Amino acid sequence: MGDYGTVEVDLSLNVAPAGSHYLEIDRLREEHEIYWNTYAQGYWVLNRAAHVREASQNPEVFSNHSIVATDPDPAYRFLPSFVDPPQHMKYRFPLNRWFSPPNVAKFSPALRESARLTVAEIVADGETDFTTTFGDRFPVRVFLTSMGQPLELADFFVSCVRRMSGATSGRPEDVERMMGAWGDIAAFWTKELADRQASPLDPDTDFVTYLAQSTIDGGPFTDQDMVDTLVTLTLGSLDTLKSMLSWCIYHLAKFPEDRRRLLDDPSMIPTAVEEFLRAYSIVPMARKVTQDVDFHGCPMKKGDMVMLNIPAAARDPHEFVDADKVIIDRKPNRHITFGASEHRCVGSHLARAELVIAVEEWLKAIPDFHIATDEPLMAHGGQISLMSLPLAWDV
Ligand code: HEM
Repeated sequence: MGDYGTVEVDLSLNVAPAGSHYLEIDRLREEHEIYWNTYAQGYWVLNRAAHVREASQNPEVFSNHSIVATDPDPAYRFLPSFVDPPQHMKYRFPLNRWFSPPNVAKFSPALRESARLTVAEIVADGETDFTTTFGDRFPVRVFLTSMGQPLELADFFVSCVRRMSGATSGRPEDVERMMGAWGDIAAFWTKELADRQASPLDPDTDFVTYLAQSTIDGGPFTDQDMVDTLVTLTLGSLDTLKSMLSWCIYHLAKFPEDRRRLLDDPSMIPTAVEEFLRAYSIVPMARKVTQDVDFHGCPMKKGDMVMLNIPAAARDPHEFVDADKVIIDRKPNRHITFGASEHRCVGSHLARAELVIAVEEWLKAIPDFHIATDEPLMAHGGQISLMSLPLAWDV
């Protein structure tokens, strides 16, 4: 078998007490830097940050043909995710501009307004399940704002995203449910695109008009390219933020001394958010092997899937002192939660702004809060996410 390990673990369906996924991936990483997971069709798992970086930066061998480890030949297309260099950057270029730091700074006042509104909706209740109130609503409002879409569409997008969660399991019923929601999102953007092509809006504020007027190789994007891009942005920005926000607020509820430090010095919040992104990293990615290769002693075959276990890499003790601890003033903090290649998350600036604003506005409105259950909170794997987060506070 060589010196790599073989493990059978269903990383997606694995429901376990909050935090235990991280302990388990730390344990597995120490046992096997790389292992072959026999789950589904079988795939390699890279657990070290150095290996994840190395594979990410070698697209000739590790292709983006599929980015879901359990789905080597997807029937759908994420764009620009599924395109390898050099074509990739052509699809990515308009997104880089739209989601650049200066543009995100333009959205920020509206994001703050949304965060205030979303907390105000629950503050008088004295309790909430964070995941289904703030966690659902705020990322959708941010997304709609960033796309130049009306906030009235929030309920539609919340319902779609709920139907899509758990889809990385590869179970037929999850895939079917996901494809239904996917179809609804694609139908929405297809109609939106047709409307904007007929009656353009301001391309500085309306993303669909902007994309319809962008070019690739001197001509327009095809309608299919644009719809695939819009669907990818929708999926990439909602569920991820819900999971990440929930981990931030979970940590601040569970560790009052860290919450107190942020209340005493709110200028620490961006640094703390960076540490939450690292220590509670949520999304693994995958690549497909294009040719037989020996990767650090592992005989990878053409067609094999390789999981880039980003949550394991973000907590790699070869890169961070006390990697398994949450140190809210950790500096420097060069984690790879947003990836480590040309495909690095295009929404990272928006995501960071969103998380910082959410924590700031939450703490202003609800400075003291606690977890409102004695039962263990549960999380699921795949995209590591809390299944609920009941909170309470004095009103
Ligand atoms: C905390 C929230 C988020 C996390 C943890 C996250 C994480 C990631 C990761 C790990 C990748 C893949 C990197 C790679 O394969 O090398 C990625 C790609 C991507 N993300 Fe995010 N993301 C988040 C928020 C967002 C948001 C808000 C948007 C939308 C604006 C977004 C849109 C995308 C897109 C379009 C890609 C594909 C980029 C490409 O292939 O060139 N993400 N994200």
